[in-house]
Amino acid sequence: MKALEGKAVLVTGAGGGIGRDFALAMAAAGAKVLVNDIGTSVKGEGRDAGPAQQVADEIRSLGGIALANTDSVSEWESANRIVANALDAFGRLDVVVNNAGILRDRFFFNMSLEEWRAVIDVHLNGSFYVSRAAAPHFKSQQSGCYVHMTSTSGLVGNLGQANYSAAKLGIAGLSKSIALDMAKFHVRSNCISPFAWSRMIGSIPTETEDQKARVEKLKSMETAKIAPLAVYLASDAAKDLTGQIFAVRANELFLMSQSRPLRSVHRAEGWTPETIASHAIPALRPHFYPLDRSQDVFSWDPL
Ligand code: NAI
Repeated sequence: MKALEGKAVLVTGAGGGIGRDFALAMAAAGAKVLVNDIGTSVKGEGRDAGPAQQVADEIRSLGGIALANTDSVSEWESANRIVANALDAFGRLDVVVNNAGILRDRFFFNMSLEEWRAVIDVHLNGSFYVSRAAAPHFKSQQSGCYVHMTSTSGLVGNLGQANYSAAKLGIAGLSKSIALDMAKFHVRSNCISPFAWSRMIGSIPTETEDQKARVEKLKSMETAKIAPLAVYLASDAAKDLTGQIFAVRANELFLMSQSRPLRSVHRAEGWTPETIASHAIPALRPHFYPLDRSQDVFSWDPL
């Protein structure tokens, strides 16, 4: 029996990139797949029904069961329509993959309200809307699985991505909250932080020889390399696995840390600004984090 036989899956942003490979892999594992995508640009401009339809057609031509959906995740009503569409079409829903995404990179001091809102709406609000729409169904079914896409831009940091970093770290918090709140209904929630050569990172400049060599290495981070983990998390083999954050980069798979106290200091009489300066900070400083970016932490080439 295939890993996802009999399950119905909804993948947002599945018209291209990582989401397309999720949809194909889940269908190959036996799931019925709702392929959601508004077919927009990396910046979230324009709409095209083509990409979702093409992926659904591709799955069907391979003998799988799939349906295209072009409602946006970024509004409450349309996000609810995505879940309703899956339930109507398949009569059940077992897995929600929140993968849809856009970028509006800009240094914080220049970021417009529109750039902030557009990214928060698709990533953080969209993940909440779609998850929340599926929650009553998962609760009454006493089972269900969420897979959300986070990013080391949020978990670690990156330049020029205040909107995206905040949304992606917010998604990690959302996932943990869902895992806590829905554990009693046997509903699971986990995050994947992918590294993949998709159009989202495909705009890296390639003028110098060094840049060209770097991009060749980045191309080994194929989008399809993320899919096996998503299929596993969606399957019953992962039935006790919840509240975790994984990262995948080509053939490397990581379990990411979650924030815990690193070190504490104590004074029986309490603290003053002076004793904080003379005692607490010198004791804590060796444990301070540098202003790392994702690439400083993942400093070796993908394997
Ligand atoms: P992509 O740009 O190839 O795919 C994103 C898809 O989402 C597109 O097909 C787009 O049309 C769709 N989409 C955008 N707004 C939508 C909306 N409102 N409703 C429905 N669909 C919408 O990007 P990629 O790289 O495949 O990214 C997939 C996910 O992985 C995103 O959440 C991204 O933030 C995350 N991610 C990707 C990384 C990478 O290295 N590629 C790194 C970290 C996170």
